Amino acid sequence: MKFSNAKLYGQEGNWDIEIKEDTIVGITPSSNVDVKEGDQVINLEGKVVSAPFVEPHVHLDFALAAGTPRWNQSGTLFEGIQIWSDRKKILKETKEEVKQRALKGTQMLMKHGVQHIRTHVDVTDPSFIGLEALLELREEMRPWVDIQIVAFPQEGYYAYPKGDELVEEALKMGADVVGGIPHYELTREDGVNSVKKTIELAYKYNKLVDIHCDENDDDQSRFVEVLSAEAYKLGMGELVTASHTTAMGSYNDAYAEKLIRKLQLSKINFVSLPKANLHLQGRTDSYPKRRGLTRVKELLEADINVCFGLDSIMDTVYPLGDGNLIRVVEMGLHACHMTGYDDITTALKLITTHGARTLRIEDNYGVKEGNKANFIVLDTESEYDAIRCLSPVLYSVRNGEIIVETKPARTKVNIPVLSK
Ligand code: FE2
Repeated sequence: MKFSNAKLYGQEGNWDIEIKEDTIVGITPSSNVDVKEGDQVINLEGKVVSAPFVEPHVHLDFALAAGTPRWNQSGTLFEGIQIWSDRKKILKETKEEVKQRALKGTQMLMKHGVQHIRTHVDVTDPSFIGLEALLELREEMRPWVDIQIVAFPQEGYYAYPKGDELVEEALKMGADVVGGIPHYELTREDGVNSVKKTIELAYKYNKLVDIHCDENDDDQSRFVEVLSAEAYKLGMGELVTASHTTAMGSYNDAYAEKLIRKLQLSKINFVSLPKANLHLQGRTDSYPKRRGLTRVKELLEADINVCFGLDSIMDTVYPLGDGNLIRVVEMGLHACHMTGYDDITTALKLITTHGARTLRIEDNYGVKEGNKANFIVLDTESEYDAIRCLSPVLYSVRNGEIIVETKPARTKVNIPVLSK
């Protein structure tokens, strides 16, 4: 099988991608001469080919839960968490019901070119319904999408009864990553202890770490400093991720500068969630209203790994979301003042290679000879227009098979051509 006339993301010229079974066996400059009868060739006519998108932070157990038992009217994180807590007590969903919602969310992401997902799953629920649902989904969906599961204590390690024990049990059950939420604990000290506990559990069970960290507008919320220091001391920074870190957008510049130097040392990863946090943050401000995002531009300039994710697909915290990560990038570039030409033409790194680094899946990731034939084709001939026009994903190819195919709408403008 061959995909001919591909524009590889970030490279000049057109290329033919040859696939045998599930592997890319050749990438050569395009030539239309050696097509033999019987060859299966898809002519991409210069469309952009990219590595599959990586969704590094979503809550699939919450997906499509918006409106039950009630809508979040304030738009705040804390009302969202409260509704989720009430929902757990009132609805008592079955594992199958959670799984069906999570599956729909997964398919929305896949439709938009995602083949790698890290999902947080609330484990402050002694029934572990959500975790069991996602563990099953992870195995059943493996041929089409990779799912990493974070044991996430939505209501805290210590603010929720025996939250720390529930996280540990979730790791024993098969979660891949240890989560946390220090800014939600009852005191700063509990928050610091929860970060230390997260690292301790990761070390003990040989897991990755991904903490919801400083997701507020409080310039004194400084758990990312603790996380970075703990990771640095054990030399495990590259295994550790700080998600959200929106308070960094409110830190004073002197502190931020000092912090970024420490982050460079520890090499921890960052996930920014532009849509969700533009929605959630700044809610206590009158005017001026803060944007409430982490310092994406400054972190990238300091050579610190940052990727973008969606966070929510229509849940109790965030009411919108359709699985489209290009839309997240487009909005994030605006919000982070990253609309220079180079920012735009390289922006997909925020949902491809940078996400892959965060998830530690860099081996065998990327459109290269010898790698698995996993890639996507966008309905555009330029990196620039991929963002500007929110290009749909024409094909998502996985292990050499087309698993998603889109026929984009074509619009005709029926007006007479005005010419001399
Ligand atoms: Fe989150």
